[in-house]
Amino acid sequence: MARRKKIYEGKAKILYDGPEPGTFVQYFKDDATAFNAEKREIIEGKGVLNNRLSEFFMTGLTNIGVPTHFIRRLNMREQLIRQVEMIPLEIIVRNFAAGSLAKRLGLDEGAALPRPIIEFCYKDDALGDPLVSEEHVIAFGWASQQDLDDIIALSLRVNDFMSGVMFGVNIKLVDFKIEVGRVWDGDFQRLIVADEISPDSCRLWDIETGQKLDKDVFRRDLGNLADAYTEVARRLGVLPTNTTHIMKPTLIN
Ligand code: TMP
Ligand code: ASP
Repeated sequence: MARRKKIYEGKAKILYDGPEPGTFVQYFKDDATAFNAEKREIIEGKGVLNNRLSEFFMTGLTNIGVPTHFIRRLNMREQLIRQVEMIPLEIIVRNFAAGSLAKRLGLDEGAALPRPIIEFCYKDDALGDPLVSEEHVIAFGWASQQDLDDIIALSLRVNDFMSGVMFGVNIKLVDFKIEVGRVWDGDFQRLIVADEISPDSCRLWDIETGQKLDKDVFRRDLGNLADAYTEVARRLGVLPTNTTHIMKPTLIN
């Protein structure tokens, strides 16, 4: 059998040519990286968890009418997605101060923001994905004003959905990052949610204890990352039925 064609390999995922025209297969790796890949580790089971969690969030979004690239999950680590023209931006939505915003503006981590704040970073690893303004986005042609209006509306819907889902399992959605892509339906184009939505790309804090259940556990050496993601998956009822790191044979005393 011919080996399938690798389209692109990123830090946490690989894209392969899909079985049908206009599709890709998105493979979730166990690699965790932070600080533009200065810190890296293999976290056994992370890819399986993120595949499931991204499926869960993307399916939920589809069900409330927010378009995404997700078609269906294929197996433990792979999902079939729609090919899109990626907009070269990371779109960050923040409900509470944390991370780079807290640092940049001297805010306390966890301080409520007056309203959701949207930021754009230009996707360029060599530059470290710099923060850019709408002016930059439009002037350099990364997206049009109409695209930006659509991106903002899309991001706020994702924020409301994700905040509500998380609140339902006692988790605060502090912030998150999404990426969007352009698809064509005949002469009409629209923007849809692409890439992934997982604890790699969100900040998730337990509402009662403040415990971090996202990639900050890895970034800040706060414990076992797979345990944190497993807890999120468990609360959402999307624990994989097959093996992850937690399902290895264990000795019973
Ligand atoms: P930041 O506070 O470090 O700017 O991160 C904001 C949000 O974006 C947070 O939920 C983590 C997510 N994020 C990514 O998904 N990828 C990245 O490369 C970075 C820096 C942040
Ligand atoms: N994903 C980015 C990296 O690997 C940064 C991060 O998520 O903190 O470097």
